[in-house]
Amino acid sequence: MSVPNQQMLTVSLPMDRADRSYPIHIGSGVLCDREQWLAILGNRAVCVVTNETIAQHYLEPLVDAIQGDRQLTSIIIPDGEEHKHMATVSHVLTQALENKHERSTVFIALGGGVVGDITGFAAACFLRGADFVQVPTTLLAQVDSSVGGKTGVNHPMGKNLIGAFHQPRAVVIDLKTLDSLPEREYAAGIAEVIKYGLIADADFFRELVKHRQRLRARDPDLLRQVVARCCQIKADVVGRDEREAGIRATLNYGHTFGHAIEKVSGYGEWLHGEAVACGMVMATRLSILRGSVKQDTLDALLTFLDAFDLPCKPPAVMSLDDFLQAMSGDKKVIDGRIRFIVLQSLGDALTVDDVFRDDLAKVIEACR
Ligand code: NAD
Ligand code: GLY
Repeated sequence: MSVPNQQMLTVSLPMDRADRSYPIHIGSGVLCDREQWLAILGNRAVCVVTNETIAQHYLEPLVDAIQGDRQLTSIIIPDGEEHKHMATVSHVLTQALENKHERSTVFIALGGGVVGDITGFAAACFLRGADFVQVPTTLLAQVDSSVGGKTGVNHPMGKNLIGAFHQPRAVVIDLKTLDSLPEREYAAGIAEVIKYGLIADADFFRELVKHRQRLRARDPDLLRQVVARCCQIKADVVGRDEREAGIRATLNYGHTFGHAIEKVSGYGEWLHGEAVACGMVMATRLSILRGSVKQDTLDALLTFLDAFDLPCKPPAVMSLDDFLQAMSGDKKVIDGRIRFIVLQSLGDALTVDDVFRDDLAKVIEACR
């Protein structure tokens, strides 16, 4: 059965890599669309990777939709960021090898960003590189992590330090899966949504602020438009700068501050999206300090984040030195200088590395 109200976008990679361009299917019920799966997978063998929480809701419907005559193995990994490490990748690879999968097997990541990052990395390593498809089930994964090919795991020395760029063959976004997503996880995804408005589309930002209550109520029509717009912006940025040599870094708006908060608080205390929400408030304050945007942008952002109970203040115990120390170990440090993403204007961001200690002190002070 094919599903109405579907929308399809394309991630177009540069011409020399045109064979790696891929579609993003967005719709309600697309997880169960047999025709679509046949078009994506043909008769190839499949390893579906998911976790115990998501399996309860969506593993059976997905397996029903793709089963046919193909070889199919389901691999269940434990739920949680604390399992995003090499041992879990190793478990996925062992399961695939023990079940006699070959390089032609397609891995399917059914889950949030954690499952997507682990599965993508396992696929990149399996027999020197197998295909994979992203089926993101959190809002954060639908608008951000499933598109763009960043895969990987954490290392005791830091987050996402081990990984590979490995683009999926397709992204299948079933908006219906958001029905079961807990409120706090949904709000964390919303932080990444408003990020796109801030860095790339001022009108989108204003629309999001205006319709925040409908978004909070998960209005399905609005959600479809919003997810599609975010994916379109991300696809455009990734198409222009797959390996983050330039503009892709702007997708990290708020992340320099956010990662520091996550690190100092202990991973898991703050959700990634919550830390990004607070980080964006700090980055916007920094932009105001540099004279590139006005207070009304910050006020609108605070109004929006407040509607989703997202945090706008860093932990009171975090000092300037805590921030600096945490930031200095981040991937965003080049030649010893910490890079920040700031707004040049609403809807337009850039990377800078000329932020001084005094500026940061003022930003932190303003957040108290
Ligand atoms: P997550 O994958 O941990 O999912 C959050 C929780 O929601 C988990 O407990 C999960 O089991 C549960 N869940 C997922 N879908 C559900 C559903 N439909 N119904 C009920 N429960 C559901 O967290 P996340 O926010 O999706 O992803 C965060 C991860 O993504 C981090 O590891 C981060 O580093 C990574 N990330 C990667 C990229 C990238 O470009 N690769 C970008 C941003 C974030
Ligand atoms: N989430 C940032 C990126 O994909 O580049």
